[in-house]
Amino acid sequence: MPGEKSGKLYSEALKLFPGGVNSPVRAAVKPYPFYVERAEGPYLYTVDGERLVDYVLGYGPLILGHKHPAVLRAVEEQVEKGWLYGAPTEAEVELAKTILRHYPPASMIRLVNTGTEATMLAVRLARAYTGRELIVKFDGCYHGAHDYLLVGAGSAASHYGVPSSQGIPRCVAERTLVARYNDPDSLEEIMRRHGDKVAAVIVEPVMGNYGLIPPRRGFLRELRRIVDEYASLLILDEVITGFRLRLGGAQEYYGVKADLTTLGKIIGGGFPIGAVIGPEEIISMITPGGKVFNAGTFNAHPVTVAAGLATIKVLEEGEAYAKARDAARRIAEALEDQASRRGVKHWVNRVESMLQIFFTEGPVEKPEDARRSDRRLYEALHRELLQRGVFIPPSQYEVIFTSAVHGEEALEHTINAVEEAFRQITV
Ligand SMILES: Cc1ncc(COP(=O)(O)O)c(C=O)c1O
Repeated sequence: MPGEKSGKLYSEALKLFPGGVNSPVRAAVKPYPFYVERAEGPYLYTVDGERLVDYVLGYGPLILGHKHPAVLRAVEEQVEKGWLYGAPTEAEVELAKTILRHYPPASMIRLVNTGTEATMLAVRLARAYTGRELIVKFDGCYHGAHDYLLVGAGSAASHYGVPSSQGIPRCVAERTLVARYNDPDSLEEIMRRHGDKVAAVIVEPVMGNYGLIPPRRGFLRELRRIVDEYASLLILDEVITGFRLRLGGAQEYYGVKADLTTLGKIIGGGFPIGAVIGPEEIISMITPGGKVFNAGTFNAHPVTVAAGLATIKVLEEGEAYAKARDAARRIAEALEDQASRRGVKHWVNRVESMLQIFFTEGPVEKPEDARRSDRRLYEALHRELLQRGVFIPPSQYEVIFTSAVHGEEALEHTINAVEEAFRQITV
């Protein structure tokens, strides 16, 4: 349980911020969030004097852990030279070339500030390029906080989206149709009825916002085929998976190519970023080259660009992925082992350095499978682990991430904590 100082800060914060926080999931740590003083390697240090092994990692960006020396150096060097110019830099050219080298045949990029901006721009681009208005997304996938895609499934018969937030005009939500993840037939059915009006199909190649749900074998290739049949565009939202599964992201991992790819998180090395990449024919339509509007005071921010470049350079050296993957494998095994020993129904999904445990009989291949998980048991696991100095996401619907710096000490601490936590939650 977070300590006294965190409690005091939170009671002040409750008067200042809606729900006491600036992004909803942060309030899911109960009874109140811990407040962080500093972070290093795999650890967060709280204002209450506690050290936590961090498996949230800023919700994905920190694949090299906190305050990696190479990233720190790059940021310090940039800050020494000033940090905002309102004019381009040499480093942004280098970052663009570095990212694109790993995502052939994409040849152009627009850098923005968040994943939200990236998917918003990708949708606008797809509409402009195809001259069509409808977008298809998949139920349970999250693509950021803007109106185009903050849409859930309507009645199964119509597939028309309904706003999943107040304040989104129904007429905007209705432009977004909703298919079922890992079910290509549901996309096929929508496309048969509306395909000639569909500008793009957008999907998280690995679902990372409903716990972790990997694509079934062949699912992404089926999407590619269906999208091609109707001359729509395929947008792969790799805000989480880009540079996490490997340098070429989910596209290299699963052998499927997008028309437009959205990136974020890791490419900013822990600083705010988003990007849309694709062929010149489409990306060059963005202002000022073309007429699809995008602009941003902070686009290609020099500090972000420095941190992103330094991060990718370390990843290119090659060892980081194996280390992060091994750490994830050990945590997955520990969770499975303890759950089995104690006779708890469970299912663990893992892809490289991302994993999540569900307390249900598996497999978990769709949001409805994830919804069957005993969320209270997951929350109890989160709570018991936190008390033992281990921070996994407070919500069943987030992902446990590992980094290249989750070394032996952090892992052993975690594995012991997992054993003790299961003993508590299964008595
Ligand atoms: C797949 C995906 N797309 C887009 C976003 C939005 O990114 P941001 O939070 O940087 O706006 C997220 C955020 O978690 C995400 O997971």
